[in-house]
Amino acid sequence: QSSNFSSSSKGLTTIILFIKMTIKKIIIEPDPILRKKSNKLEDVDNNLRKLMDDMLETMYAAPGIGLAAVQVGILKRLLVIDVSKDQEKKNPLFLVNPEIIFRSKETSIYEEGCLSLPEHFAEIERPAECHVVYIDYNGKKKTLKAKGLLSTCLQHEIDHLNGILFIDY
Ligand code: NI
Repeated sequence: QSSNFSSSSKGLTTIILFIKMTIKKIIIEPDPILRKKSNKLEDVDNNLRKLMDDMLETMYAAPGIGLAAVQVGILKRLLVIDVSKDQEKKNPLFLVNPEIIFRSKETSIYEEGCLSLPEHFAEIERPAECHVVYIDYNGKKKTLKAKGLLSTCLQHEIDHLNGILFIDY
């Protein structure tokens, strides 16, 4: 859905295209949907891209650094992530059907939180590095080799697709 507005000022015409984003309601534990396994997606089309855009806006508004589709009530294997710092340029990642193909033996510990568990934080130990294959926003197959916060965030979010929450560790 989009709508056009035009306005004239000083002989210049500006056309502004508004793309409507929808902020979705985030589902809070102990809603049983959070314990369900999400289903694989078949392909990336415009409807799915609209959902990705809405999930990103929802995550930024919360604010959070990762959001799985199940957290907005949709049992599809889809994540949005952005671990960029406040002062940095935004760096959104959209991951369809993400799958971990490598986990390092070394581990790291981060304090984790979750938009579905407000005000709940815990130090969680996970593999320090992971490699993830996924389909991107444009439907292309990608591999991501992640370390640090991004690695932890990916593992936390992929857990959501399998009905696992960080409090289970
Ligand atoms: Ni979470």
